Amino acid sequence: MSDIRAAIFDAYGTLLDVHAPVVVQSERIGPHWRRFSVDWRAKQLEYTWVRSLTGPAHHRDFWRCTEDALDWVSERHGLSDRGLRAALLDAYRACPAYPEVPAVLGARGLATAILSNGEPGMLAAAVTAAGIADLLDDVLSVEAIGVFKPHPLVYRLPERRFGHAAASMAFISANAWDTQGALACGYRAFRVNRAGDPDEYGLRGRAPEIDDLAKLPALLIG
Ligand code: LAC
Repeated sequence: MSDIRAAIFDAYGTLLDVHAPVVVQSERIGPHWRRFSVDWRAKQLEYTWVRSLTGPAHHRDFWRCTEDALDWVSERHGLSDRGLRAALLDAYRACPAYPEVPAVLGARGLATAILSNGEPGMLAAAVTAAGIADLLDDVLSVEAIGVFKPHPLVYRLPERRFGHAAASMAFISANAWDTQGALACGYRAFRVNRAGDPDEYGLRGRAPEIDDLAKLPALLIG
């Protein structure tokens, strides 16, 4: 695959562990903390899609979607501790990178960038906290156009930034819906499936599937 010119990564869930904040606060959340984390993530994503589908007047950035989703899931789980809310949001701004990420981004030979629903401030804080800011050529946020993935316009941002067609760039995501979005826009997509989740969108066969990012440099650079 030596014709690939740039590697574009999703951020949350792909490079950054979005469940880490809840793990740290699991005792305060209680026995259903895993469900709490899964529900927080699912509601956060639902809010992005509803905000994009209902039109530009209804757009709120990803930080707001993250806060709104946390408030919903907290109420659902009967939690009203404002200190816990603040601690979870602080931790979300510093989601750790998965262990293999620095080495993968450091395996140079390709331009690398994030393309994320995250708003620029939260992305800057996260890549700094994770120690990967210097390993990326750019961090691209959907806030440049005000609509969330998987809207096709979002996947045009790396084309404009790097001057390469989608067909000569890799797009790497742990989110099936995001992988599908990138494939629909012509990228060479790779699916990270850490949990061994079932196939979606018929991705298997269209996007190589890896169980973590460690195998990626060999696939991209050959
Ligand atoms: C991202 C989230 C949605 O775009 O995974 O980084």
